[in-house]
Amino acid sequence: MRTFASLSVALLALASLTVLAQTPAAPKAPPAPPQVVAQTPPMGWNSWNFFAERVTDKDIRAAADQLVATGMKDAGYNYINIDDTWEAERDASGELHTNAKFPDMKALADYVHSKGLKIGIYSGPGPKTCGGYAGSLGHEEQDAKMYAAWGIDYLKYDLCSFIPEVMEKQAPNDKAAQMRLMIAAYDKMGKALKATGRPIVYSLCQYGWDAVWEWAPALGGNLWRSTGDITPEWDRIYAIVSQQAGLEKYAGPSHWNDPDMLEVGNGKLTLEENRAHFSLWAMLAAPLLAGNDLPNMKPEIKAILTNRDVIAIDQDKLGKQASRTYTDGEVDVWTRHLAGGAMAIAVINAGSDRYVTHPFHLNLARLGLHGPQTGKDLWTGKTVTLTDNEPIELVSHDVLLVRIATPK
Ligand code: GLA
Repeated sequence: MRTFASLSVALLALASLTVLAQTPAAPKAPPAPPQVVAQTPPMGWNSWNFFAERVTDKDIRAAADQLVATGMKDAGYNYINIDDTWEAERDASGELHTNAKFPDMKALADYVHSKGLKIGIYSGPGPKTCGGYAGSLGHEEQDAKMYAAWGIDYLKYDLCSFIPEVMEKQAPNDKAAQMRLMIAAYDKMGKALKATGRPIVYSLCQYGWDAVWEWAPALGGNLWRSTGDITPEWDRIYAIVSQQAGLEKYAGPSHWNDPDMLEVGNGKLTLEENRAHFSLWAMLAAPLLAGNDLPNMKPEIKAILTNRDVIAIDQDKLGKQASRTYTDGEVDVWTRHLAGGAMAIAVINAGSDRYVTHPFHLNLARLGLHGPQTGKDLWTGKTVTLTDNEPIELVSHDVLLVRIATPK
C-alpha cells in the first residue's frame, strides 16, 4: 500500500510538472532599472535659512503651496526639505518619534506629494543633530526604513555631534582614523538608504572636510557640502564662491558640490547681491534650494528665483561646473561649458565701493575666444556683444551673466 501511495504521489507530481511545462511562461518583466536621482542639481526649498528651529508642519505645507502658487514649481523647484528640529525621542523599540511641531510626518509627506512635489528630511550620523535633537547613531537602518515608509525623497545627513562623540572619543588625536570613522558612518547611511529600494537623494553635510568630493560619490552621495554654513551676507557668499574654484572636476550628473542653500531674499542683501548670488550658484551647478520666506516673497526676489535662463545654466545637462577663468583686481570672470557647444560667462564686481561703477575690460583670448562674441544678457534679456574694447560697467557686487550659443 505504502509503495502504491508513494507511486501515485510521484505520478501526480510528474503530471503537474508536465502541466507546468506546457503552460506558456508568463512574459518576464525586465528588472526595473535603478532610478537615478539628481541627474541635474536638485532644486527646491529648505526650511533652515529662514525658519531655523522654529519650522512647523504648517510652514512646510505653506511652503509647498507657495512653490506651486508662485510658479517656482513650474520653474523646476520640486523638493520641499525639512531641516533640523523635527525630531523627538526614541521609544523602547528604538523608533524615533516626531515632536509636537510635526504631528504626523506621513500625512505631511502625503500632502507635499499631492502637490506634485517631493519631500526631504534631515538627520546626522551622531547621537545628536546640530540643533541638539536625536541623531541616527546606531539606528541608521531603522531610520532609513522609517523615512521610506513616510515617503521621504531626500536626506540631508549632518555630521555635527559625530565629531566629539565618536571621532574624537574613539580615535583621539588620530586624524586618519577619525576620517575613516566619518567615511564609514556616511557609508552606513548610504547603504541603509539604498536597501530601502526607494530613490532617495543623499546629501552629505560635513562642511567640505577631508576632500569629501573625492570619496562621497562612491558612497552614493548625490551632493556634499563643500563649505561651512552660508549666511545672508555678501562677504560670506563671496568667500564661499572663492572656495569653489578648482572643485569643478568633481561635479557631474548625480554628484554635485554643494556650496550651501540659497540666501536669495534673506537678510539685507541688495538686489545686485541677490542676483549675483543666484547667478554664481547657477554657474557652479549648485543645488538651487531656496531658503526664503515664500509667503512674503517680494516680486523682485521671485523674478530672480524664477529666471528660466539662469536656471537653465544651472540645470544644463552636461553638468559641467564653471571654472574661475581669471581674476583681474576686484573682478572675477567665470566660464561654464554648456550642452551643444554653448558657453556661459559671468563677470562679477566683488569690489565693495558701492559708489563707484567699475569699468572693466574683458580679455576674450583668456577665455579661449577669438574676437567679439554675441550672446544674451540673462538678466536684461537683451542681445549683447562682448569685445575687448567696450568697457563692462558693473556696480559693486553686481554680475553680468551672458550665454553665448555659438562661441568662436
Ligand atoms: C548645520 C548645517 C545647517 C543646518 C543646521 C541645523 O549647521 O550646516 O545647514 O542644517 O546644522 O541645525
